[in-house]
Formats: sequence, C-alpha cells, structure tokens
Amino acid sequence: MNTDIEHREDIMRLVNTFYEKVKQDEVIGYIFNDIANVNWEKHLPVMYDFWENAIFYTGAYRGDPMNIHRNLHHLTALTKAHFDRWNTLFLATVDELFSGEKAELAKQRALSISTVLQSKILYPDPNSLL
Ligand code: HEM
Repeated sequence: MNTDIEHREDIMRLVNTFYEKVKQDEVIGYIFNDIANVNWEKHLPVMYDFWENAIFYTGAYRGDPMNIHRNLHHLTALTKAHFDRWNTLFLATVDELFSGEKAELAKQRALSISTVLQSKILYPDPNSLL
C-alpha cells in the first residue's frame, strides 16, 4: 500500500517520475524534447514549487502557466489528444506512487487546471483582449 504525499521530497519524486514518462512518451515527448527544448535543471524546481503550492498552498509558485502554454501553442499546435495524454500520464504517476487524500487532491488539481488551460487555449474567447 502506498503512502500519501506528505513532504516536498514526495512532490519531487512525483514530478521526476512524471517527466521521465513525459520525455519518453510517443504522443507528447517531442513537444518537451524538440519544440520547447526544455532545460530540465531549470524546469524541474519550478514544477516542484508549482505542485507544492497546488497541494499544500505554500505560495511557492508565482508564474503564469496560461501564458507559457499559449506561447507553446503558437510554436506547435496543442490538441485535445496532447492534453488527454498529459492527464493520463499524470494520473497514472500519482496512482503508481501514492494513495490518500493529498494524492486525490493532486489528481483533481491536475484535471481542473488542465481543463482550464485546454479550454482557453483550444477555444479562445474571441471577445477577450488578452
Ligand atoms: C498538452 C499538455 C501540456 C504540454 C505539451 C505542456 C508543455 C509544457 C512545456 C513545454 C513547458 C515549458 C517548460 C520550460 O521550458 O520551462 C511547460 C511549463 C509548465 N507547465 Fe505544461 N504542458 C502541458 C500541460 C500542463 C498542465 C495540464 C499543467 C498543470 C496542471 C502544466 C503545468 C505547467 C507549469 C506550471 C509550467 C511551468 C510554468 C513556469 O515556468 O512558470 N502543464 N509545459
């Protein structure tokens, strides 16, 4: 039986395991490896902060994911299939490593943020000036 997500070390393990899957993934790997050419040394600590904030409300993350993914969408079209794959990999990673209240919260947060990113990027509001 897995334990719950309790400390930053757990978040680090979750994020590291997730991106190991992402990098090797047939559907979304190329976006990280070839299009965005991600600098993992920089990206991973940002993601630790992001998820620590999303799960423990630490206030550690102050970024603008909407803008970053919008820019990415201009470099290569993001599709529903990409978001579905991202969701599947993230949920599978949480379930593989953890179980409990925070693990459930992490999956919920991932899905709700993913839905917002997806809807704003794939179906932008034509009346919005942003
Ligand atoms: C189609 C699905 C997705 C793709 C292809 C994607 C790809 C990327 C890429 C390439 C970056 C930039 C990495 C860098 O160079 O630093 C990034 C950043 C990020 N992504 Fe995603 N992403 C996806 C979905 C999501 C979802 C659903 C979430 C949250 C639940 C998320 C959260 C973030 C965050 C927090 C950052 C860092 C923003 C910052 O630097 O402040 N992404 N993503």
